Amino acid sequence: MMNRTLAQADVEMARILAGELDRQQHTLVMIPSENYASKAVLQTMGSILTNKYAEGYPGARYYNGCEFCDRAEQLAIDRAKELFRCDHANVQLHTGSQANMAAYFALCEPGDTIMGMKVEHGGHLTHGKSINFSGTYYHFVSYGLDAETDRIEYDQVLDIAKECRPRLIVVGASAYPRILDFQRFREIADEVGALLMADIAHIVGLTAAGSHPDPVPFCDVVTSTTHKTLRGPRGALILCKAKWAEKIDNAVFPGIQAGPLMHIIAAKAVAFKEAQSYGFREYQRQIIRNAQALAQSLIEEGFRLVTGGTDNHLMLVDLRSEGISGLEAANALEEANIIVNKNLIPGDERSAAETSGIRPGTPALTTRGMKEEQMQVIGKLMARVIRAPQDGTVLADVKQQVIDLCADFPIYEDLYD
Ligand SMILES: Cc1ncc(COP(=O)(O)O)c(C=O)c1O
Repeated sequence: MMNRTLAQADVEMARILAGELDRQQHTLVMIPSENYASKAVLQTMGSILTNKYAEGYPGARYYNGCEFCDRAEQLAIDRAKELFRCDHANVQLHTGSQANMAAYFALCEPGDTIMGMKVEHGGHLTHGKSINFSGTYYHFVSYGLDAETDRIEYDQVLDIAKECRPRLIVVGASAYPRILDFQRFREIADEVGALLMADIAHIVGLTAAGSHPDPVPFCDVVTSTTHKTLRGPRGALILCKAKWAEKIDNAVFPGIQAGPLMHIIAAKAVAFKEAQSYGFREYQRQIIRNAQALAQSLIEEGFRLVTGGTDNHLMLVDLRSEGISGLEAANALEEANIIVNKNLIPGDERSAAETSGIRPGTPALTTRGMKEEQMQVIGKLMARVIRAPQDGTVLADVKQQVIDLCADFPIYEDLYD
């Protein structure tokens, strides 16, 4: 029983994984929150550390037999502190949403006023949506994008902050293609006596590599996922000033989580080591160069991009003048092996289930080695599909070109050997 491989133990599931590997190899993964974790990260995630209970923190566990768990978690903490140059790191968070929950628990009382970016303008569900815990347990006041520029206008944020006097201001987004000015947010927070939290779930790789301004010096707390631009295992972390360390740790365990996922924490340590390499810094720069090349290609094809381009790893394509919804465009693109997600655009009149935009990004394409030249081609392929979503000949032709392109950029070799 214990020594059988997956193929021997469960043929059905082995086939599903083989199918997914094939899908990841033969499609263009352009969802900006997705990536390909390295083989070393995958190996660690699939390791025997999954067998161990280790409630508590290194040196202070509620279970015996934690010597190697302690070493793995301490390594992850030390590497996170070095990588992000912060006082304290908690690496136990299972997801980005739980990281935000723990941060709110540590910094606020239920019912406190918190400012976050409007979800319809690019903020995340956990930044105050009423159907989410954040909007249920806290009094969220939203700031949005300027109607003219589609950008955060900092004076408007200040005006709202003066009006609502929040306990906490959250800066961060799931769909904002421009630089976030953390220093300016700090000034606003100071002016109204608020705490400041950055949620860098999306841009964490860029900030770690110096390709986007660093939030750590300006924020009380920084939350992030580890599986997007950071290219680690699915999970999250919290970085904070020493002053908040104890509150954050208590909010995570025993506040909202029990047994830590030790295999995932160990894989985070591996990802942090990878992120300290020169290659990773160059990778992050290439993500941005690729995003800008793709944006340029789409603009040349006649599409309007929200804010006219991008400073980071993603862009928002406004499809309102194309007579097609985000949902229809994403589905047609999928038929041609191009995987993007539909996304609301500022001022969208369609629902979140339909939308008037798509949100392509370049982290995963960049991981497999694609460069500006391929982005030019991909922009043209996307345009052909979006302009002829019902044309089977076009879809089949683009799909074949995508498969050929993907063949030149293999992802994993011998993954399940
Ligand atoms: C800005 C932001 N914060 C938090 C999250 C939540 O992360 P998770 O899906 O791991 O809960 C996301 C995920 O998309 C995000 O974009």
